[in-house]
Amino acid sequence: MMNQTDIQNLLYLISAIGFIVGIKRLSHPKTARSGNFLASLGMLVAIIATLTSGANFDWQLIALGVGIGSILGIIFAVRVEMTQMPQMVAIFNGLGGAASAFVASSEYFSGSDSSFIIMSISVLIGTLTFSGSFIAFGKLQGFISGRAITFTGQQAINALIFGSMLALLSAYNFNLLPSDTIFYTITVLALMLGIGLTVPIGGADMPVVISLLNSYSGIAAAATGFLLGNNALIISGSLVGASGLILTNIMCKGMNRSLANVIFGAVGSETSSAGSTQQEMNIKSYSTTEAAMILDAAEKIIIVPGYGLAVAQAQHVAREVADTLEAQGKKVLYAIHPVAGRMPGHMNVLLAEANVSYDVLKDLDEINPEFEDCDVALILGANDVVNPAARHDQSSPIYGMPILNVDKSRTVIINKRSMNPGFAGVQNELFGYDNSIMVFGDAKDMLNDLLKEIKEL
Ligand code: TAP
Repeated sequence: MMNQTDIQNLLYLISAIGFIVGIKRLSHPKTARSGNFLASLGMLVAIIATLTSGANFDWQLIALGVGIGSILGIIFAVRVEMTQMPQMVAIFNGLGGAASAFVASSEYFSGSDSSFIIMSISVLIGTLTFSGSFIAFGKLQGFISGRAITFTGQQAINALIFGSMLALLSAYNFNLLPSDTIFYTITVLALMLGIGLTVPIGGADMPVVISLLNSYSGIAAAATGFLLGNNALIISGSLVGASGLILTNIMCKGMNRSLANVIFGAVGSETSSAGSTQQEMNIKSYSTTEAAMILDAAEKIIIVPGYGLAVAQAQHVAREVADTLEAQGKKVLYAIHPVAGRMPGHMNVLLAEANVSYDVLKDLDEINPEFEDCDVALILGANDVVNPAARHDQSSPIYGMPILNVDKSRTVIINKRSMNPGFAGVQNELFGYDNSIMVFGDAKDMLNDLLKEIKEL
């Protein structure tokens, strides 16, 4: 016969399988929706397992938490735009870290006989994740400067704070200070360290930081799981910790930067003079009619979607343009840069929503050789990911980032609204190249006009 603990552990095991299979299914757009559903189901099973464990719960408080959490979750899901996902993830990470810190604190204040060191580490990582994530959120939302904020001795101060926390933990072992003093001081120092580590990082590097903080929130949750002896929390925390680290690694590779360079490089600290100014560039502004005529003469066209396409919600009309061109006998492919847009897989999700076939979505390595014999590269609201300065300009903040070699195409048509820079804040020399032409306007409006024009030709 299984006792209550066995049943609970079995349910936790089922929920862990839901998380693992769910994450696996998230790796492809075709299976991502069901993966998300499966992981949510796993979470529901874990919640039910916890609530039916027979512990002495304050049901009113739990109902209040479930109510507030559900309402906020629904509001976020409905109202947050795809382009604001990194900010949302930052908030959720921060709250996850705070939750772990609160649980560990309540263990400490309830006089639990759990290890003081584990409780402190859980509070340390959770609090650091909380303050760091909210600084990341503020930077992305524009509440604080997106630039890297640096000053002399900054990293030494961070190292000092970290060293002090380690010293405090050893002071506990030798009974040098009252545990309350150690606990409070570590909490305050962790808050400071979260801020200290995040402010010197530029806005363009925030996605990497958010992914790293996501991983920290997982580690904090796993540490809390050890404190409570809760297997589901240990497994889910470890999964978040590991997947956050893997994603961080993928993003660093996408930008060809080391993690140390992202964290300590202070990229984006000064107004960069990298890239030519608009005055120096030979900008050629064309109408949609002229762009349609160029496309009419083309045989092979590569569409390059970027953040602007997502903002304009122009994915459906982009697909219609591509379908029309294909119906006219032209070959149309889509070039997907790993960090185009504002979150990993952003362009894939966007184009999948518009029912663009996966077969024509080509990633960076696959598509770059294709530009050599491409008649037209049609850039829709992309900027940094097609900036050739990344290949040769060592002073550019995006130097070293692998880019889509659109400039190798016979003609490059760039659509954006103005000469404003992209996320990294630098002007794009591509816009002044001899084979580049600009078609200014909102991506959706421009594509609607273009669609009419190409249908009439
Ligand atoms: P960006 O370099 O950010 O450029 C987007 C361009 O879209 C802007 O220059 C903007 O110019 C234009 N735009 C905005 N609204 C538009 C509209 N309605 N219609 C047409 N164009 C519009 O985008 P990207 O090339 O996709 O590069 C992504 C950048 O974000 C990289 O620097 C990357 O490192 C960073 N980042 C990536 C991620 C991930 S993981 N994907 C997360 C966060 C940040 P105008 O204002 O002139 O229109």
